[in-house]
Amino acid sequence: MLLMCPPDYFGIEYEINPWMSVAVAADHALAQDQWRGLYDLLAATGVDIQLLSPTEGLPDLVFTANAGLVFGRKVLVSRFRHPQRQGEEPVFREWFTSQGFEIVDFAPASVGGGSDFEGAGDALFCGDTLFAGYRMRSDATCHQQIGSILGVRVIPVELVDPRYYHLDTCFCPLAEDEAIWYPPAFDDYGRRAIRAMIPKLIEVERKEAEQFACNAVVVGRNVFTNVGCSQLHDQLRARSYTPTETPLNEFVKAGGSAKCLTLRLDGEESASWRCSHNANR
Ligand code: ARG
Repeated sequence: MLLMCPPDYFGIEYEINPWMSVAVAADHALAQDQWRGLYDLLAATGVDIQLLSPTEGLPDLVFTANAGLVFGRKVLVSRFRHPQRQGEEPVFREWFTSQGFEIVDFAPASVGGGSDFEGAGDALFCGDTLFAGYRMRSDATCHQQIGSILGVRVIPVELVDPRYYHLDTCFCPLAEDEAIWYPPAFDDYGRRAIRAMIPKLIEVERKEAEQFACNAVVVGRNVFTNVGCSQLHDQLRARSYTPTETPLNEFVKAGGSAKCLTLRLDGEESASWRCSHNANR
């Protein structure tokens, strides 16, 4: 089950990442079509899609990956770094509450520790392990707390390139032992950690990373990305995945693509390979 939010009020109204320029507006009609294109492809796989009502004045609310981190029926709701997105927090909170999720709060920031956390944008399960990006948008102190709150192993990885400011812009788990990634977005330590933990890695080249190749939605063996990721698609086909491209360039203008426009509601940990074991969690 996925959460999406129609782009009725989507636009480039501020600049909080290097992709955004208020001088390069999004084409509203095209954004609507592109969003619908992704929605239709995902719906055709049979996945259930819930919709969040769009809110005027919150142009980035479409990026539901940043709502929070869902784990079973628990959710850690995001606390955005930039004031421009903080207005989304009560909207997401209210929606999770109305759907019966148990909202789990972080402890207030300790001295010197930040308390920002941008949800599934920065926290992705590969198998049982939560990979957690920090520095640009989320603080490592939050990731430590997640480990103890959820009782899962967390591997914090530092993001070093401002263009890949969320983990889901440079890393995408495909299966418990397999992921797509863009190594230059990480420091040496992060690269070593990922290589040590995940035996099968598909490396994306710079041109395709810039097309948000890593920002893919994975539904079973189906992988959905923006256009312009043909090398990745070849590699996926060679590993018996079924890649599909759909134009999402209007959202790239905001620094987002396919994965950012979705949130897994059956728990980010319950990727396809575990669905059947996960029903009662
Ligand atoms: N404009 C949004 C921001 O900078 C884009 C968020 C993309 N979301 C993601 N999960 N990568 O916050």
